[in-house]
Amino acid sequence: MTSAWELLLPAASAPARARGRALREALRDAVRSGRLAAGTRLPSSRDLAADLGVSRGLVTEAYEQLTAEGYLRSGRGAGTWVGDAVRAGRPRARDLSPRSSGDLADFVPGTPDLSLFPRAAWAAAQRSVLADLPHESLGYPDPRGLPGLRTALAELLARRRGVVADPERIVVVSGVAQATALLASVLHARGMRTAGVEDPGSPQHHALYASAGLDTTPLPLDDEGLATGPLYASGVRVVVTTPAHQFPTGIAYSARRRAELLGWARSVDGLVLEDDYDGDFRYDRAPVGALQGLDPERVAYTGSVSKSLAPGLRLGWLLVPDRLADDVVERKRTTDLGHPTLDQAVFARFVERGDYDRRLRVCQRAYRERRDALVAALAEHFPGSRVTGIAAGLHAIATLPERYGPEEGFLARVAEAGVAVRSLAAYAHGGAAGGPVGGGQVVGGPVSEGSAPGKEVRLVLGYAHLTPGRIRAGVRRMAAAV
Ligand SMILES: Cc1ncc(COP(=O)(O)O)c(C=O)c1O
Repeated sequence: MTSAWELLLPAASAPARARGRALREALRDAVRSGRLAAGTRLPSSRDLAADLGVSRGLVTEAYEQLTAEGYLRSGRGAGTWVGDAVRAGRPRARDLSPRSSGDLADFVPGTPDLSLFPRAAWAAAQRSVLADLPHESLGYPDPRGLPGLRTALAELLARRRGVVADPERIVVVSGVAQATALLASVLHARGMRTAGVEDPGSPQHHALYASAGLDTTPLPLDDEGLATGPLYASGVRVVVTTPAHQFPTGIAYSARRRAELLGWARSVDGLVLEDDYDGDFRYDRAPVGALQGLDPERVAYTGSVSKSLAPGLRLGWLLVPDRLADDVVERKRTTDLGHPTLDQAVFARFVERGDYDRRLRVCQRAYRERRDALVAALAEHFPGSRVTGIAAGLHAIATLPERYGPEEGFLARVAEAGVAVRSLAAYAHGGAAGGPVGGGQVVGGPVSEGSAPGKEVRLVLGYAHLTPGRIRAGVRRMAAAV
């Protein structure tokens, strides 16, 4: 007997003559209020009668009456369920998840193809974990994370990303977002009030620091990464960066700029937060190791499975310098008493079995094909465009020749045609027209003469979640609209 049926007990204790009516009313009320959700299976009349201590006939009668009224429905065989017709007044949870816009193509950046989620391998890992996880492992977890997962992650991150990863130094978190929030709150407690962020950059960085009470200082980029002059001039001592594939411009920080950034951190006794959000995906460039590998005491490193598996898993990792480790772990503990054990154990198993590497290879192939489809479609339909940031990640920047501008009109026409695209300028913190997008590839013809930055249409195009056909159709539709 679940607690839902207990709410019928008062009806059962009504005087004998009123008992049937009271039971029907209590059932109706439970369905109307949503306490008994649509689709819930009711106990058999025999079981419910026994649980409530009433005659079986009373329950059968109540079921029949409410079925006639539409509150309940009975199945072909035995069984009675709560119907879905009656929902009046039922409180509903507000759904804050992003919705599909119904557009022909939405080139939103940063979304993996969720249909490629390896359900079978994940289910196998889940089954094997449930079969052999000892009972005692289901208590409160170590706030740093399961030792088995931290060991697997240390090996994985050292091998794939060149991270200096001591399992003792890894904290399992619910994503880059939580890693950023934890770090920001520890820094705030130590008196820090401002953090530098890349401009243009991820709106998440600003929002997460703001929620911990830190102001953010937007810092400009040049072709090699975060510009060091403004960084020194800013006076900040912590800066958030995306060196493998800058979000959103797609720049890979140069070796020189990486060294300069670490030089800055040492000179101001500062810290670089390295957000390696899509560092797993690279196509035709040599692997660029994580900045953290060059100086683990000056860099806090974070990543997650949000781009490699699915953001809904809410699973990530944070590696912090020694001097911050205890505080970060304590903050994680006081935030949620540790990351869910089963999720951690399943992911550990998934990594240990080689499923994670396999999955990355599958995605890498699919995403490269999609990126190539995007570049080809832009060459065909928007000749003279420059496409940058394509060597890695899940999105690219397309700079269209000036003749397609001004940007505002372009965006409006494209949106009307059912294609969702975002301007690079939308990611500028300081209201500037976007950052540098140097290098890259001119596709399908020469760049228009004398095109001035600021007048061109510069788009951030996420491609990983769209099939090549959808990409081609989206770009074609965009071209037809303008
Ligand atoms: C640059 C960047 N960093 C981090 C995140 C958040 O990552 P996670 O899902 O791991 O919290 C996002 C997600 O939109 C992002 O674009």
